[in-house]
Amino acid sequence: MPRNFLSILDLEKTDAHALVRRAHEMKQVDYRCDLLSGKTVAMIFEKASTRTRVSFEVGIRHLGGTPLFMTPAESQLGRSEPLCDTARVLSRYCAGMVVRTFGQEKVDALATWGSIPVVNALTDEYHPCQVMSDMLTMYERTPDFSSLKVAWVGDGNNMAHSFINAAVHFPFELALAVPEGYDPDPAIVERAKGLGARITLTRDPREACAGAHYINTDVWASMGQEEEQKAREKAFAGFMVDDAMMALAAPDAKFLHCLPAHRGEEVSESVIEGPQSVIFDQAENRLHMQKAILEWVFSD
Ligand code: CP
Ligand code: NVA
Repeated sequence: MPRNFLSILDLEKTDAHALVRRAHEMKQVDYRCDLLSGKTVAMIFEKASTRTRVSFEVGIRHLGGTPLFMTPAESQLGRSEPLCDTARVLSRYCAGMVVRTFGQEKVDALATWGSIPVVNALTDEYHPCQVMSDMLTMYERTPDFSSLKVAWVGDGNNMAHSFINAAVHFPFELALAVPEGYDPDPAIVERAKGLGARITLTRDPREACAGAHYINTDVWASMGQEEEQKAREKAFAGFMVDDAMMALAAPDAKFLHCLPAHRGEEVSESVIEGPQSVIFDQAENRLHMQKAILEWVFSD
């Protein structure tokens, strides 16, 4: 059975911690190797991307491999070829698949039908590569997570779900502030709590931010939800992370955002461009963490 990375909960706790340490080591030495020499990794992207696409393409090359970027517009995926056929065909040519798509069931299907590793590069449910990279960004500043409070302010979306899963493996307290109607999936929250995650949910962003060491947000309308933008702007009024919200946090708190960001919506210009913002370290860390994830899936 190939090793897949479809969700942070595909990792054992020890693997999750080892990946953070390994990505940190790789970053220190600007790691290169020939692990993927002679191998091609298909990158199937059904949604737009800047960071994920480029960091995977560069990372695959750093490990000696060749990335092959595919979109529905230029492949038979856009003409409804079933995923069960695509998975079996790509498995005859390629060493792995990196997939950005809509429902999690699509990455599950590719993993079920294919015979090569599948890495989730974002679905509607999860963004595990981003959040594992964010664990590296936190680890670089605060290697002991046990006394950390992380605030999530905004939508209960794919990023929130992956932070909820991360809280199973990493011992930070996760305080989510979400407007009514936009909660994270209660089954994901309950499963994480059952596995030991420390999670609270409030409607008041100020309560979540009080004393937090990291304040984290994301766009109010994710890819695929563009037509809900106006309704969401109304629902998320009062949820912009601004200087007043940052002032409630711990004195040296950092601001996190996976990007792309909408300045003046979920975050003020002053916060995203301010001294507490670590958004470009987060973006850089995608490269290092994904190299560690690729090494993990291909070393099995
Ligand atoms: N954060 C992130 O996944 O960015 P892209 O959509 O640009 O890949
Ligand atoms: N929640 C966002 C994350 C983008 C990286 C989306 O899915 O569009």
